[in-house]
Amino acid sequence: MLEKPLTFLSLSISLLTIAATPQWAQKLQQRPFGKAPDGQAVSLYTLRNASGMEVTITNYGGTITSVKVPDKNKNFGDVVLGFDNVDGYAAKENTSYFGATIGRYGNRLAHGKFTLNGHTYQVPTNDGPNSLHGGTIGFNRRIWQAKDVSTANAPALELHYLSPDGEQGFPGNLNVTIRYTLGKGNDLRIDYSATTDKDTVLNLTNHSYFNLAGPGSGTVLNHSLMLAADQFTPVDATLIPTGKLQSVAGTPFDFRKLTRIGERIDQNNEQLKLGKGYDHNFVLNTGGSLSKAAARVEEPTTGRVLEVFTDQPGIQFYTGNFLNGQTKGIGGAYQFRSALCLETQHFPDSPNHPNFPSTELKPGQQFHSTTIYRFSTK
Ligand code: BGC
Repeated sequence: MLEKPLTFLSLSISLLTIAATPQWAQKLQQRPFGKAPDGQAVSLYTLRNASGMEVTITNYGGTITSVKVPDKNKNFGDVVLGFDNVDGYAAKENTSYFGATIGRYGNRLAHGKFTLNGHTYQVPTNDGPNSLHGGTIGFNRRIWQAKDVSTANAPALELHYLSPDGEQGFPGNLNVTIRYTLGKGNDLRIDYSATTDKDTVLNLTNHSYFNLAGPGSGTVLNHSLMLAADQFTPVDATLIPTGKLQSVAGTPFDFRKLTRIGERIDQNNEQLKLGKGYDHNFVLNTGGSLSKAAARVEEPTTGRVLEVFTDQPGIQFYTGNFLNGQTKGIGGAYQFRSALCLETQHFPDSPNHPNFPSTELKPGQQFHSTTIYRFSTK
């Protein structure tokens, strides 16, 4: 049977529908990204907004693989370090957590231990004597289930992972959902939610390495930084917080006013020596408000600006001090201090410091946290 001929009316209706559909109300673009070490195929999802900002995320490790934003001359470029296929992320040698989702417990747990209800749990120690970023196989090496949850207003991706009871030594079946939404104002919003069926601890973050001049374009020492923090948590020689909250006043940790990152990084300061630069948790004074910037970064040559908003109590400012040129990714070899991380988080090793805000999650509670990375130029 012949198909119904396209009448003038139906043609006009279809054209009207296309015209009325905002550019960004399209399905996410999905393409293959290779195979994870267990043979499963993983994908790359592209979120694109009306002004052309583009974010790509893979369901391997819930990893942000690229963030393309305009500079002051409206030239778009990537501002995060990463790889163009899954092998780079999955490689055993990759211990840098480029762009990855971090869990169950972001940053360090002293000796991989914590106690809940009188029971001491042991999780893998993968960073000297301590546990780092969830253990040997953290959320960064898991395959997440992806769902396109875009709306007419914004492209959005949801990733889900069920971390079984006892995984990496952590108690409780933990159901985690992460929603990435790309807003019209060049803001990437990350919403984390989780539930558990046993008392557990949780500290989720994203580990993007930013260089606002582009990956492989030198150090970040000429970027300027503002951190809304009056205190930071000093560390011991294994980068575990001592438990003190130390004032930043009169120290190289005072970023309350926009300051060039390289200005004081090599000062003769015990904490800077322990971190090989900045690798510290800052105590945010934003009171969990998503409308006050927790951090602001400016890059002078491109004019690019990044602002970070979060409801979390802390932020790990890390200047890529463990990058050493051995890793080749998009843009070239990743050199010492060639990127910076702003990991919104609860304080490292909180379960072992009763004076730090609690990271416990109990059955019946709904965990929720939000971080927004907003890009602009000046
Ligand atoms: C830590 C660093 C670590 C890096 C990558 C950061 O969150 O604070 O010490 O080297 O992650 O592993």
